[in-house]
Amino acid sequence: MSAWNAEQYEGRHSYVWQFGGSLVELLQPRSGERILDLGCGTGQLTAEIAASGAQVVGLDGSPEMLGQARQNYPNLKFVLADAASFRFEESFDAVFSNAALHWVKNAEAAVQSIAAALRPGGRFIAEFGGKGNIRLILAALETVLGATAEERCPWWFPGIGEYASLLEQHGLEVRQASLFDRPTPIEGERGMEDWIEMFCGTYFRDLDANGAKEKVRELAAHLRQELFRDGVWILDYRRLRVVAVAVG
Ligand SMILES: C[S@@+](CC[C@H](N)C(=O)[O-])C[C@H]1O[C@@H](n2cnc3c(N)ncnc32)[C@H](O)[C@@H]1O
Repeated sequence: MSAWNAEQYEGRHSYVWQFGGSLVELLQPRSGERILDLGCGTGQLTAEIAASGAQVVGLDGSPEMLGQARQNYPNLKFVLADAASFRFEESFDAVFSNAALHWVKNAEAAVQSIAAALRPGGRFIAEFGGKGNIRLILAALETVLGATAEERCPWWFPGIGEYASLLEQHGLEVRQASLFDRPTPIEGERGMEDWIEMFCGTYFRDLDANGAKEKVRELAAHLRQELFRDGVWILDYRRLRVVAVAVG
């Protein structure tokens, strides 16, 4: 897994969990339920779920993000584990996940872990990058960085058919799935550069700090015409949202 800068995430990327608020509404957490927040990051949505009276466990693979989550919410339970291999002894009423699963390239292993974590009838409510997500940004990465861009891509953005099939193969009945554009504004003239610095580290791993900065500037310049409007950067996000229930 790539390293995460928790301070930068909380400082400049709060839109991630702010958009996740509507997913918590879809989850409808109830008092006493056991809920897993998969890829919980710095814990803001874990806390929102806990406010319902549910017993929440936040799970994340990044020690930096989890350390910040523990500092933010010392009364909540957080576990360091990989979404592709976690196991719990006690089952959950729901597994929730916002903006995390497109980072898990071994998606089948993650779905197996999710299915194993749910009690029969338990629900899986998730949103993450779907097919066509950040299309223009990916194209700019290929133009600026060449052939290495594709092999360094840290994400998997599935379509509905692909992801729903995977869920069904592992005993999860898909009740809702939608793939939708969600143009996402980010603040400031430097917004695109901030975003690239935060999320695209794997692309620049063999460059020194100055070399990476230069590429980041070049990428932002490349994207400006299509994604910078009236003084605001608008990311070309497309999300896949699913609601599924564990059968059996
Ligand atoms: C963009 S953040 C979203 C965090 C949080 N869900 C939110 O809405 O603010 C993505 C999170 O997924 C976590 N993540 C990525 N790959 C993971 C993996 N294989 N196992 C566990 N967590 C992972 C990252 O560490 C990061 O905290």
